Amino acid sequence: MNHFTSIQDLGPAGVESILAKATAWKGKFPKHLTDKLLGMVFFNPSLRTRASFEAVMVRGGGNAVVLEVGNGVWKLEDRLGAIMDGDRAEHVKEAVPVLARYVDALAVRTFATCSDDDADNLDPVLNAFRQYSTVPVISMESAREHPCQGLADLLTVKETFGTTKKVPVTLTWAPHIKPLPKAVPNSFLLTAAAAGCEIRVARPEGFDLHPSVLAEAQSLAAYTGGSVTITDDQNEALHGAKAVYAKAWGPSTVSGLGPDAVKSNALWMLNREHMAKAAAGAIFLHCLPVRRNVEVADEVLDHPSSRVVDEAENRFHVQRALMDWLLNA
Ligand code: CP
Repeated sequence: MNHFTSIQDLGPAGVESILAKATAWKGKFPKHLTDKLLGMVFFNPSLRTRASFEAVMVRGGGNAVVLEVGNGVWKLEDRLGAIMDGDRAEHVKEAVPVLARYVDALAVRTFATCSDDDADNLDPVLNAFRQYSTVPVISMESAREHPCQGLADLLTVKETFGTTKKVPVTLTWAPHIKPLPKAVPNSFLLTAAAAGCEIRVARPEGFDLHPSVLAEAQSLAAYTGGSVTITDDQNEALHGAKAVYAKAWGPSTVSGLGPDAVKSNALWMLNREHMAKAAAGAIFLHCLPVRRNVEVADEVLDHPSSRVVDEAENRFHVQRALMDWLLNA
């Protein structure tokens, strides 16, 4: 039985295979999921993830059951040995195997603390689903990674440039009104490394991604012929980039910066002048939702080089390929 909760579950060859199937199936609607049922458990809200997974299941001939934890569904405890005298009425030790008896696969969206990078890196809720499920588990974003998003991002790069190998891509930190999880930047970095891109990560001092993610990305890039460089010079990182990915994330918890730090560095908001430093024909990417004129200026999002809607559409295509691998391989 396969799970898909991390780009590690696919590896570089698996990433290539999923992107190839997603491309081959564009415009086609095989009933590859006939009578298959996906359980979707949300601890956090969603627009794209929920709609795209439901669309994958229904268009593939199957169906989905959607549960929003704490909204008509018991709040779930995941701590081992917890004395359950609070508002969490059910433990994942029972909830996950019970749900697994009803469905063919379980998808889960968990959350990050955004205040403890080491705890978020361990991904306790997601890993409890992996441990207690008897059917394949799919991450719809966890504390550490958002691997479906990473695949959709790289499919968009591949469609634009015909390849992902050696494509210079820049992940640039963006300001926000509050600290956000690092799952999306982690997954863009890991998936781009697995796809062989030349990656530059630009972030202000104090906003490092977790060392284990950086080490994993370096290892993947060494294997695929890509590269990873980290800088606090946004303009240097943007120079010659063919894909520019803006994303807000919270400070590293060892940096000593408080949550208000995400409102500083306002000059990092991506604007037309920033994009002018990228290569001719460069595309702009963002996972969405995006706070206009806080993270990214209107002029970037509304420019023809913005591929954010295509990128969101690609969630559907990569997830069809993933469900086929998980349920039919
Ligand atoms: N990109 C993404 O995961 O969007 P949602 O949070 O709307 O699902």
